[in-house]
Amino acid sequence: MKAIQDYIKEHKDRFLNELLELLKIPSISADSAYKNDVLKTAEAVKTSLENAGCDAVEICETDGYPIVYGEKIINSNLPTVLVYGHYDVQPADPIELWTSPPFEPVIKKTALHPEGAIFARGSCDDKGQMYMHVKALEFMTKTNQLPCNVKFMIEGEEEVGSVNLSKFVKNNQGKLKNDVILISDTGMIANDVPSITTGLRGLSYVEVKVTGPNRDLHSGLYGGSVANPINILTKMIASLHDENNHITIPSFYDKVEELSIEERAEMAKAPFNLEAYKKALDIEAVYGEEGYTTNERNSIRPTLDVNGIWGGYTGEGAKTVIASKAFAKISMRLVPHQDWEEITQLFKTHFESIAPKGVKVKVTPHHGGQGYVTPIDSIGYQAASKAYQKTFGKTPIPQRSGGSIPIVALFEQELKSKTILMGFGLDSDAIHSPNEHFGVLNYLKGIETIPYFYKYYTELFNS
Ligand code: BES
Ligand code: MN
Ligand code: MN
Repeated sequence: MKAIQDYIKEHKDRFLNELLELLKIPSISADSAYKNDVLKTAEAVKTSLENAGCDAVEICETDGYPIVYGEKIINSNLPTVLVYGHYDVQPADPIELWTSPPFEPVIKKTALHPEGAIFARGSCDDKGQMYMHVKALEFMTKTNQLPCNVKFMIEGEEEVGSVNLSKFVKNNQGKLKNDVILISDTGMIANDVPSITTGLRGLSYVEVKVTGPNRDLHSGLYGGSVANPINILTKMIASLHDENNHITIPSFYDKVEELSIEERAEMAKAPFNLEAYKKALDIEAVYGEEGYTTNERNSIRPTLDVNGIWGGYTGEGAKTVIASKAFAKISMRLVPHQDWEEITQLFKTHFESIAPKGVKVKVTPHHGGQGYVTPIDSIGYQAASKAYQKTFGKTPIPQRSGGSIPIVALFEQELKSKTILMGFGLDSDAIHSPNEHFGVLNYLKGIETIPYFYKYYTELFNS
């Protein structure tokens, strides 16, 4: 391809500065205090798409935050790529653990990013990765090298479950019609070990409440004679895994796809250093389901985790009290064929059934979504693989990820097209954590690789 590397060299500073500007707006979708900032970010994305040469860019209102849509249709006989990304970000707390403020982006060197990484909330998830597509489009339109049609759909509610996007997709199937969906919102193994994400886990997220006595009680006067909701809740949660770290909910594993020995052997070929993994997390041992490796545990196996637990007295000093209520938020990561609504129901039935007399249990489902696996023999995957081959000089490794982008399964169901997950972040980039960052080289490599995807995809489509 003519001059993508030259184009990047020439415009590198501007590419970086534009992203830094976008990162300064705290588009936290979970916290209504940031509503104006989220809306402002949608406007900024719209402007950036217009500047990159997109036509018909619009802010599509929803019952929540808007979806930014734009397209460049050059010829209806050519294939159409639909790019999806999100402009909302996770909350930044605990803010005191950031080494620089989350919405004042700075470039700092790290061990894995000796050339520098952009530190800011959203730098990797997903503003930085989404913006690579905007800059790749700019290159293709400004140099007359856009080989096919392209549509952009950038939402502002991914981090809170994409509820309104589902409706938008169902109601706009004609407008969103495409041949392949392209997303950069995942990661790769290492900068010298490129990989393409071929699977995402599904998710079921629930909140549970255990209620005991009608008020907080003196733990001396009543201790021992009434059920303590916190004791009960922790006991119930502990019982959800057996001694092999298998989940005990009846029928939970019924539909889990078991990989063949060959597939597992293939997976095990991906480079992985257990010592480095443990060291990076300051843990002495890994932990998880008996019979599976670390990489299997966090990608092809389902999980159940408490995300937060509270109740009773947690202030300074001591207060002798038996709380009236105890709460927890629980997520289950699911694998292909497990249906998230069915699993939510199984959880609810089981959790209610194990409650002892003397407490009331309430399970409230939050949100969820199905898992996803993409075939590696599609022309979309082949085009992506060729693109990485071109810019990294290596064939990328197909790899299933443990994270979730629930909307991807819905895309396939409603739009009947496959999604290609070309993620350029690293697991160590601390998405959702303090000090999230995104390598400058990763950002530029993404911008360089994306136009090749378009080129090879169009060639394979026409052949
Ligand atoms: N981009 C992530 C998902 C991701 C990251 C997948 C890295 C694979 C590798 C996305 O923004 C995210 O955080 N998803 C949520 C689910 C959502 C319903 C809140 C998740 O995985 O927890
Ligand atoms: Mn994301
Ligand atoms: Mn995220």
